[in-house]
Amino acid sequence: MSDDGHFGGRVAATYDESAAEMFEPGVVDPVVDVLAGLAGGGRALELGVGTGRIALPLAARGVPVHGIELSRAMVARLRDKPGGDAIGVTIGDFATAQADGTFSVAYLVFNTIMNLTTQDAQVACFRNVARHLAPGGCFVIEVMIPELRKLPPGQHIVPFHVDATRWGFDTYDVATQEMSSHHLVLEEDGRATYTPFPFRYVWPAELDLMARLAGMRLRDRWEGWAREPFTNDSPRHVSVWEKV
Ligand SMILES: C[S@@+](CC[C@H](N)C(=O)[O-])C[C@H]1O[C@@H](n2cnc3c(N)ncnc32)[C@H](O)[C@@H]1O
Repeated sequence: MSDDGHFGGRVAATYDESAAEMFEPGVVDPVVDVLAGLAGGGRALELGVGTGRIALPLAARGVPVHGIELSRAMVARLRDKPGGDAIGVTIGDFATAQADGTFSVAYLVFNTIMNLTTQDAQVACFRNVARHLAPGGCFVIEVMIPELRKLPPGQHIVPFHVDATRWGFDTYDVATQEMSSHHLVLEEDGRATYTPFPFRYVWPAELDLMARLAGMRLRDRWEGWAREPFTNDSPRHVSVWEKV
């Protein structure tokens, strides 16, 4: 692993293409609608801004966006895009890195809270966000519900994608809440690339407690960005905490 973490040059080079469905307007527009509404007239802070999937369309809506990002390779791809120079970026760990000024909304989407692989780091992230938010400002997280209901006794693997050229599966350690996503891609030359991403899975109630430790309280929880109700069977949640 390089200084860029798990999103170094090789991953950054194909990030947009491999996550192409997440760049579709039908996926991005509802995210931007919610975040622009929460920003009001203020600034937005994206933790793990990546190649600008959300930051760029949010900035195009007139919201000033700043990012915190570990990977210079991901930021280089952001900079290559139209409008990429207008997004200020602080290179560093979003659990601790400081950006200048205060923000109306901070957000952490696409399961990226799970990139922090310890509970301490996740708690530190909430505290860091609270330091950046103006009073009444909001922190938004989009993250999956851990798929433990798919694990029969003795099993610890959940496949999430299988076709002729790509295989993806998650492995769970239910004792430690460690989790890894494993991506195998068969290339045209017949060779395969293997990319593992380590995670720490985290429950909604645990996030609420982290928010409380940081001086925030739950304002909304939805299944998705269209504000669908969060239910017993929701595969993920979009949660909004407000700085008290
Ligand atoms: C799944 S990508 C999401 C990128 C972008 N937010 C999006 O929605 O497309 C996760 C991003 O978070 C960054 N990241 C992961 N852990 C980080 C950390 N501790 N501090 C800063 N950036 C981090 C990665 O480098 C990567 O760019």
